[in-house]
Amino acid sequence: MTQPLTPTERLVVALDVSSRKEALTLARQLQGRVGMLKVGLELFCAEGPGFVKEIQTFAPVFLDLKLHDIPNTVRRALETLLPLDVRLINIHAQGGPTMIEAAAEAVQAHRKGGGRTELLAVTVLTSLDREALARLGNTTEPGELALHLARLAQECGADGVVCSAQEAELVRTVCGKDFHRLTPGIRPKGASAQDQARILTPAQALHNGATWLVVGRPITQAPDPAAAADAILAEIAVC
Ligand code: C5P
Repeated sequence: MTQPLTPTERLVVALDVSSRKEALTLARQLQGRVGMLKVGLELFCAEGPGFVKEIQTFAPVFLDLKLHDIPNTVRRALETLLPLDVRLINIHAQGGPTMIEAAAEAVQAHRKGGGRTELLAVTVLTSLDREALARLGNTTEPGELALHLARLAQECGADGVVCSAQEAELVRTVCGKDFHRLTPGIRPKGASAQDQARILTPAQALHNGATWLVVGRPITQAPDPAAAADAILAEIAVC
């Protein structure tokens, strides 16, 4: 039987900064307090794959590049990235079934060779609400669309999804508990929503069945990031 994750293992901090120096400062402050460090587009574009290797000495990395292109291009990009052996990597489920399958094949081949990387598919960005989706020509409710895309991602071989914590419970019920749910859009009580539309507190997200919580600005822009992380860990420890 697999052990339940500890609060620390569940916390993923988004290093949304654009320099090695800022990222290393945060990584040092957060070492031992987080299960993963998330390297997204901003930091990856600024510092590249070499920096991903370096930051992995502080904590495992979730490489959040949200790949979305034709299947062959996504597969080849993943084959270039997989030797980094990050803990998690992701694609957009909206790239379609053949693209998800191509990505899953690349990741599964990496694991057969002894790698540890798992593949997540982004369902609906947590910054998109019903109105924004409608302006994109999609009148499906965000939650319904996220569930539909989670089912598709699972059928096509992904290991889990990135979804709003508001959808995590339904995804767990429909796709099973072993299909991971990584949830951004987390805001401790009283924190500003900023540009996120579908938000929940860390405790609510865990109650809703999130596997991992992604927290960015509430920790990285706090006057004391370590104390902000500790407050979140204390909140989820009692869940
Ligand atoms: O600062 P904040 O906590 O809003 O950061 C959330 C992080 O999660 C950002 O790095 C953002 O790119 C990422 N993310 C998201 N919504 C998704 C997928 C990823 O906000 N659906």
